[in-house]
Amino acid sequence: MPTQENLKAAFAGESQANRKYLAFAARAEVDGFPQIARLFRAVAAAETVHAHAHLRAMKGIGDTRQNLQAAIEGEEYEFAEMYPKFVGEAETEGHGAAVKSFRNALAVERTHYGFIARPSRPSRPARISNPLPCSSATSAVTRWSATCPTLVRCAARPGRSFAKSPDARIARTRPAPRPPCP
Ligand SMILES: [Fe+2]
Ligand SMILES: [Fe+2]
Repeated sequence: MPTQENLKAAFAGESQANRKYLAFAARAEVDGFPQIARLFRAVAAAETVHAHAHLRAMKGIGDTRQNLQAAIEGEEYEFAEMYPKFVGEAETEGHGAAVKSFRNALAVERTHYGFIARPSRPSRPARISNPLPCSSATSAVTRWSATCPTLVRCAARPGRSFAKSPDARIARTRPAPRPPCP
């Protein structure tokens, strides 16, 4: 049955189209075509809808504990296996831009792994069982995408503001690093 593989391929294609169109939109802004930039951004948003639909259809979204585990495994694979191999092959080919891009990503994936693994520790089960105490799931997801450490803050306690949560004290005494998350 090829459907599961087709869903994976379609999810990958739609996801790539989303990121590519956003890059195209940025370039259109630089080139002085704001209308074309808006067009690209609108189509990119539609590609995200398609990608998420494919992901749901192939049952690629679990509960938060499962999603954290999947993310940990994905980030670990990237920094421990994928990017080291890619760096080596790019160096062999003398592809300097790829070497630089792969190395930069490798370093950040390791940081992502740390951020995601931290709220997954068994000593902090509340963060997993109550993952979205922010005003809405959308805001939590947005914060996750924008700055990696913020999801940890959002996941502190349901119904409590971050400023009053134990995580605020942690953040004051040990500020979370802010890597250049993509
Ligand atoms: Fe699409
Ligand atoms: Fe990552």
